[in-house]
Amino acid sequence: MWVRLSCMRRVAALIMKFRVSGEGLGRTMQDYREVLAEILIDEATLQRRVAELGAEISADYQGHPDLLLICILRGGVPFLVDLSRHLTIPHMMDFMAVTSYGAGRRDSDGNVRVVFDLQMNIMGKDVLLVEDIVDSGHTIASVLGMLGTRQPASLKVCTLLDKAERREAVVPIHYRGFTIPNRFVFGYGLDLDEYYRNLPFIGVVDLQKYRSE
Ligand code: IMP
Ligand code: MG
Repeated sequence: MWVRLSCMRRVAALIMKFRVSGEGLGRTMQDYREVLAEILIDEATLQRRVAELGAEISADYQGHPDLLLICILRGGVPFLVDLSRHLTIPHMMDFMAVTSYGAGRRDSDGNVRVVFDLQMNIMGKDVLLVEDIVDSGHTIASVLGMLGTRQPASLKVCTLLDKAERREAVVPIHYRGFTIPNRFVFGYGLDLDEYYRNLPFIGVVDLQKYRSE
């Protein structure tokens, strides 16, 4: 009897583990409208700014055929795709994925590890890192450190969002879409426990209503 109970407890703990990580066994995500406190940046404003950034980058990199956009998976994908469509100059793209050792938490602490590396050699290329958001700055600082050792011709940062008041690491930001207040946001690449990256706007999460179970 006792053995069976302890076995059941172990199964229950496993199920909880999957539910916390949002993977596997039937996690039910709330409808985003139930957890949306407000729309911080609407679709039209977002698209206008992405177009402006595209024009600015096209002008700055004119005559630099070795421009390489590097997207950090997964949050930067929608921004990279839209930005790229506004570039009027030739450019390449590559992707990398990093994880912080405290994966699953909402705060990164600078312990970043590459889990999927670039396919291209960046030596001699003009690298522009395209990010969804710079928060504490640890992720981007760490990635810049790594890429800097690979001898690119130049290395710059373009971020859609800058949560400037949360900054802990010093990071140069050359292109910035919007500076936003210290609130947890989702949509347009940014996830809420891996969901809602597809939304065309940036929304603020109502943390009272959102159960991160
Ligand atoms: P860092 O604190 O600058 O290292 O940011 C690490 C990562 O945390 C970002 O690349 C995002 O993936 C994530 N992040 C930071 N703030 C938010 C947010 O408000 N919503 C969703 N993801 C966020
Ligand atoms: Mg990111």
